[in-house]
Amino acid sequence: MTKKALITGILGQDGPYLAKLLLEKGYKVYGLMRRYSNPHFDNLHFLGIHGDIDFIEGDMIDEASLLNIVKSIRPDEIYNLAAQSFVGSSWEQAKLTTEINALGVLYLLNSIKFLSPTSRYYQASTSEMFGLGNDNGYQDEKTPFHPRSPYGISKVYAYWMTVNFRESYGLYTSNGILFNHESPIRGVQFVTRKITDGVAKIKLGLAETISLGNLEAKRDWGFAGDYVEAMYLMLQQKEPDDYVVGTGMYHSVADFVIAAFKAVGITDWKKYVVIDPRFKRPAEVPHLRARIDKVTQKLGWKSKVSFEELVKMMVEADLKRNEKKKHK
Ligand code: GDD
Repeated sequence: MTKKALITGILGQDGPYLAKLLLEKGYKVYGLMRRYSNPHFDNLHFLGIHGDIDFIEGDMIDEASLLNIVKSIRPDEIYNLAAQSFVGSSWEQAKLTTEINALGVLYLLNSIKFLSPTSRYYQASTSEMFGLGNDNGYQDEKTPFHPRSPYGISKVYAYWMTVNFRESYGLYTSNGILFNHESPIRGVQFVTRKITDGVAKIKLGLAETISLGNLEAKRDWGFAGDYVEAMYLMLQQKEPDDYVVGTGMYHSVADFVIAAFKAVGITDWKKYVVIDPRFKRPAEVPHLRARIDKVTQKLGWKSKVSFEELVKMMVEADLKRNEKKKHK
């Protein structure tokens, strides 16, 4: 029988990569979409799967819409990737961030509990929950949380609700604690894509500089296309569980800048980078690096794309996009 998957956040970065993977495995894929006047399907088009998704309208902060959707589809698997996912905006929009990322999860879990208790649930948890928490410079499933932003705090609530529904009602609910994962369809607000888009524009003579905030922050950056395989694997196990997913290595924002400029043959990068305090955060997470023993041993998962390959892939995609714009 054809398996049914519901993906929230279908228009974001991870939704399209996950949808592609599930479609290749023969799933019928439903994508939850908010009501927009002008929705952007660019990321689905980029992966060539726009026509293969069944879109359904609903909203993470409208409980009744979720109840209806879960009741009518009764998906085998639900992947909750919807979020206000930009950490930087979460101070200014703390309430909205909390409603979507925390209460939205409660609504979705309630829908499963009441109307489709055999659905398996994946929660997009995040390394931002660790914040300052670390164990000798690494974070793993046992590291205490010390979130540093309203975003991180909202995700801690969602994490524990996901655990609690498993422990209280015996539902199959799993958290993927994903470290930063990027791709050519990453939003341009996020630092990696901001850098690769800026570098491409500078290379093509379309911009003179890139404005950035804290260059010292270190992140464990992997490729989103690899990470969605871990999400899928988490829902295929005998028992639900929580897993840290990352590469096990980290680089600074400055390292990313240097690698991106290097990919277009520019070495004197400093003259193109402007430090703008507007892009600094009220409280920073200085470094995140995953200890990946559990996901490697239990799921047999490992990221495949290296840091250098990732940077190159993103720069090349942005060169192509910007070249098209230049010739329009
Ligand atoms: N966005 C942005 N813009 N970040 C900057 C800039 C800038 O101009 N300059 C420096 N940074 C630094 C940020 O302060 C942060 O330390 C780091 O670059 C990465 O920022 P983002 O790319 O915005 O990602 P993030 O780490 O805050 O959050 C992402 O990863 C999380 C997983 O750890 C998001 O995808 C989250 O949704 C996700 O949960």
